[in-house]
Amino acid sequence: MTPIQKVLINKNTNINPIWIMRQAGRYLPEFREIRKNNPNFIDLCLNDNLSSEITLQPLKRFNLDAAIIFSDILMLPYGLGQKVEFEKNFGPRLGELNLDEVAKVDEIDFIEKIHRVYKVIKKVSSDSNLNNKNTIGFIGAPWTLLVYMINQQSPKKKLKKDFFKDEFLINRILLIIEKFLKVHIKNQIESGADLIQIFDSWAGLLEEKDLPNYVYAPTLNLVNYVKSLNVPVICFPREIKNYKEFCDIVRPDAISIDYNINPESIVKNIKIPVQGGLDPKILLTDKENLKKEAIKYLEIFKNHPYIFNLGHGVLPETNPDMVKYLVKIVKEFK
Ligand code: CP3
Repeated sequence: MTPIQKVLINKNTNINPIWIMRQAGRYLPEFREIRKNNPNFIDLCLNDNLSSEITLQPLKRFNLDAAIIFSDILMLPYGLGQKVEFEKNFGPRLGELNLDEVAKVDEIDFIEKIHRVYKVIKKVSSDSNLNNKNTIGFIGAPWTLLVYMINQQSPKKKLKKDFFKDEFLINRILLIIEKFLKVHIKNQIESGADLIQIFDSWAGLLEEKDLPNYVYAPTLNLVNYVKSLNVPVICFPREIKNYKEFCDIVRPDAISIDYNINPESIVKNIKIPVQGGLDPKILLTDKENLKKEAIKYLEIFKNHPYIFNLGHGVLPETNPDMVKYLVKIVKEFK
């Protein structure tokens, strides 16, 4: 069993595996070097040689317990034929959402557009750097994908006023998203992904009354689907207020927490394995402070099955030496 499986399946509390959200990315000079010559982000994700190399870059530097595939949650709208572009200093920019066009897409069209993601997973999962480590496949949760597909860009702090206006469109799109997420999950697992993470980055934008409809119900369907394929699943409903209610209803194998939630309240109220929490901005301070803050999480979760990670992605301005130091602290903690 890998260290992460020992935590997720055996509920082992004596080990602290670690991986880092956005571990393959802009804070690594070797990534920036490749990115410089590959201005189209989607094309780079679909270049299986470069994309598997990028996926393995952080594992060559640091003693991490998993590789997360270099891809993006927005591969789903891309596979459905919606235009997806990444603009420097702006983020994702999506094209107009045409329901009639999207509704015509079948499984073969979808796989034809993104099948090289599965090639990357095959390459990475059979690489010797992955011995006794996990290969993490992932999806965006239906709610977060709906937000991008309708809003056509990051919603930043709030949704457009008329976001929920076209209920017919929203309900149709949600069903289409769910159908193709299952296709995407199945293909990732068949290619070698042995753990799935579901990113619901914008769960925190919803009012409590809308969570059952847009977060709990669709995510529960996907969690049950991953479980039916005998692979563990971790959920990251970022900035949701009530993690306990989410866990009670959705029942993932582990819950990944953001950096605004008090970890003491999590350890008190939640029984399933926990992942993450540390504020990525701590990596921008100094080693002494990093050690203090990392040990805080390790102490709080000392008697709880816990996978070390951040409370959101590692920031592009992070010094890789700080990541190296963090991994050392986590591995040496007893
Ligand atoms: O290392 C990894 O974590 C694996 C790869 C990965 C990427 N995106 C690569 C990426 C993963 C797991 C994601 C998930 C993702 N993508 C999420 C969920 C997690 C989160 O951050 O909340 C979301 C919301 C997206 C959508 C997305 N992709 C945004 C908003 C952006 C722009 C913001 C930014 O950081 O620039 C991206 C681009 C993106 N995805 C980059 C990377 C490495 C940066 C691309 C670049 O080089 O310009």
